[in-house]
Amino acid sequence: MKKGDLLKLLTVTTLTLLYAWPARGGEDFLKPRVSEEKLASVKLMQNPLSADGKSVAAGREIYYGKGLCASCHGESGKGDGPGGASFDPGPRDFTNASWQSIRTDGEIFTAITEGTQYGMIAYGDNLTDNESWQVVNYLRTFGARGVAKNTHAEVSVK
Ligand code: HEC
Repeated sequence: MKKGDLLKLLTVTTLTLLYAWPARGGEDFLKPRVSEEKLASVKLMQNPLSADGKSVAAGREIYYGKGLCASCHGESGKGDGPGGASFDPGPRDFTNASWQSIRTDGEIFTAITEGTQYGMIAYGDNLTDNESWQVVNYLRTFGARGVAKNTHAEVSVK
């Protein structure tokens, strides 16, 4: 292959990727998953649990245990678990700082309890509300790790 051909191939590949990216998640994952009618009230829902070590540890147990969250969302929360490979958009990457900052606890809680139209399962029948809030608090620690790596937040939880 000539050097010029390689460059052409690279350019085409890059452009194709750039074009196809938004279709496979892209910024799409930042769009609200709660219906428009409910969004305002869901956004304002108050998390009844403080994000202390106890609730975070309980949420962590559910994430890797009976909730099976890790099988799709990955061991480190990046959305890369084997069970989630066939979904589009894929399972949420909880280390994504934009996603962490745009979602309120109420929206995350509602995604867990009611599921989403793109394949997130509804856990309302399998987890109590209290357990779902505990998981919300655990998911927030992935954001802390993503934003400030190697801080005490990472050490204290895992
Ligand atoms: C079978 C695979 C699978 C399992 C198991 C799973 N999820 Fe998901 N989850 C997904 C997929 C796929 C999405 C992306 C759906 C979407 O974009 O609406 C998602 C999205 C989410 C979102 C993002 C919703 C939003 O508003 O952006 C949250 C929060 C979430 N999952 C939490 C959990 C928790 C907590 C558990 C365990 C209790 C869990 N998931 C288990 C597949 C899974």
